[in-house]
Order: sequence, then C-alpha cells, then structure tokens
Amino acid sequence: MGKNTLYKTKLGKYLIGDSVELINKKLIKSHMNKVNLIITSPPFPLNQKKRYGNKNGEEYKEWFIKLAPLFSELLTPDGSIVIELGNAWEAGKPIQSVLHLESLLGFLKHPEADLNLCQELICYNPSRLPSPAQWVTIERSRTIDSYTHVWWMAKSINPKADNSKVQRPYSKSMLALLKRGKYNSGRRPSDHVVSKESFLTDHHGSIMPNFIELDKMEENKEWRLPENVIRLSNTNSNDSFLRICREKKITPHPARMNPGLVAFFIEFLTNPGDLVFDPFAGTNTTGYVSELMGRNWLSVEAEEEYGKQAIIRFEAQDIKVNSKK
Ligand SMILES: C[S@@+](CC[C@H](N)C(=O)[O-])C[C@H]1O[C@@H](n2cnc3c(N)ncnc32)[C@H](O)[C@@H]1O
Repeated sequence: MGKNTLYKTKLGKYLIGDSVELINKKLIKSHMNKVNLIITSPPFPLNQKKRYGNKNGEEYKEWFIKLAPLFSELLTPDGSIVIELGNAWEAGKPIQSVLHLESLLGFLKHPEADLNLCQELICYNPSRLPSPAQWVTIERSRTIDSYTHVWWMAKSINPKADNSKVQRPYSKSMLALLKRGKYNSGRRPSDHVVSKESFLTDHHGSIMPNFIELDKMEENKEWRLPENVIRLSNTNSNDSFLRICREKKITPHPARMNPGLVAFFIEFLTNPGDLVFDPFAGTNTTGYVSELMGRNWLSVEAEEEYGKQAIIRFEAQDIKVNSKK
C-alpha cells in the first residue's frame, strides 16, 4: 500500500494528506484527464475555527481559487466538478459575508482552469437548525439559513449528463392527466403556449428542477428519485453511521455531505466504471456512495481521524476494506 493510503476497497482508495500537495506531487501525473467527476464540500470559511482546519477571509479565497486549475487538469474532457458550499456570515453582525460567492466566482473564472458554470443548484435542508442563532432565534431579525449552493462546472459546455436518469416519480395529478389523455392547451398567463400534445407522452417521471430538497431524499419521506438511487440512499442513510459512532463513542465529523445528494450527481453525471474524486473527503460519503453505485473512486483527507471514521461506512455494509491499521 502507498505511503499516503489509509485503506482500499475493490473500487477505490482513501489517501491521507493535504489535497493541494498530493494533487501537485502525485495525482497530476497519475490521474491527469482521468477523473469523470470531482464532487466535494470543501472546508468552509469560518469566523470561529471548527474542528477541522479552516482558513479565513482573503487567505481562504486565495487558497480556494488556486484549486481550479488543479481540479481542471484532473478532469476528462467531458467531466464535471460539483462543489457544495453553504452561506457565510460576518462575525458578530446580522449580515451575510460574500466570501463564499467571491471564492466560487474566482474559481470559475480562473484563467488557467477554463471552466464553465453548467448550472447552480440549490440544496434546501428543511431540517436545518435555526442559524445564525443570534439573529434568527434571539433577535428574531433574520430567517433560517437553510440552503447550500451547489455549483456544477465543467471544461466542456456539454459535459456528460443525463437528466432522464434522475427523474422524479410523477405527481398524482400528472398520472391522472396521462390517464385522462387531455388537458387545457393554449396560451398561459406567462405567455407560454402549451400545445395539445405536450404533456401526453409518458416519460416515466418528471424532470428534476435545480432545487433539491434533502428531506425528500431521506428515509420514510416521499421518494423523489429513481429506484436505484432510492435503494442506495435507503441503505446508506447517515443514521447507521451515527449509530455506530455512538456505540463506539466516536464524535462524528461535524459537516458530512448528504449521501442522497452525492448519489444524485453520480447518477446524473457519470456511468458505472467512471472515476469519482473527492479532494476533501471527510467521512468519505463520496467514496462510499461511489462504491455502492459501481463507480471507481479516489478520496483525499487531511485528518487521519476522519479517515478512520470513514471506514465505518463500509464495514456497516459488509464491504471489504483493506486497511493499513
Ligand atoms: C466539509 S468537510 C467534508 C465532509 C465530507 N464531504 C463528508 O461527507 O464527510 C471538509 C473536509 O476537508 C478536510 N480538509 C481541510 N483542508 C484540507 C486539505 N488541505 N486537504 C485535504 N483535506 C482537507 C477537513 O478535514 C474536512 O474533513
């Protein structure tokens, strides 16, 4: 096993180290133009330090923007980068920071990265605790900050993508309409003209909007993703991870990605056998979901402690892990 490898599975490898350093020293040579999807939630610009090492202010922005050409070199010509980033707030003031937006824009516009914004998606978490607490629950002067920005970028203006793979089941009214076979066609108040046939072809589901509601991807809620993604999220919920952490008295990583969200993009933007990379892997939600979906994966994380937590996900599903320790 290589010096940085903490563990391997049939389809992937989890490396410990600084991702910028590892990409520069190693991965550019071995993985240039080979990664089909980079999906990650990078460390966040914070006013107070959380448990993992976050940079602040201008230092963060500069660091973040410099990731763009590195990621771009790893991508296949039709590959995609998906970055999830929440909102940031000014310390001690009821106003939002724009640092995350400047960072994302700087990343997109980096002259050596040659990236396009394919789409911004919004990831809404209706169960998010009220924050920023001071302004939302004490002063009652702001609404709950409850969504993250998900920026989907690519070198090509036509990266590999197929929205028919991530359709939502039809609503009851759409199913009734298909059965009825007729509806009010004509000009709508929005000036759209709806033809007599537009809605009568059964595409076996409706097309996803760019607004993703996390609760709909979790257990015991109305499922809005195709069966293969549903099945995956079902067995892969954060609940089993958290239960095992509790049993082993481990403090879980504070900022895990939602497995359903990762599954959505893997299904939408890659095919089985493709390579998915997460440079800020934490508990390796990305690698784990990739393994279950038959994609090869590569993950990098600076903190070994989180790498060890990541193994829990695989062991909970009886997936063979070949680990150093
Ligand atoms: C928001 S978390 C990602 C969580 C992950 N998506 C999950 O589901 O568990 C960001 C991670 O990046 C790691 N990190 C921060 N700086 C890093 C660096 N320079 N290289 C590699 N990992 C880094 C942090 O330790 C943290 O675990």
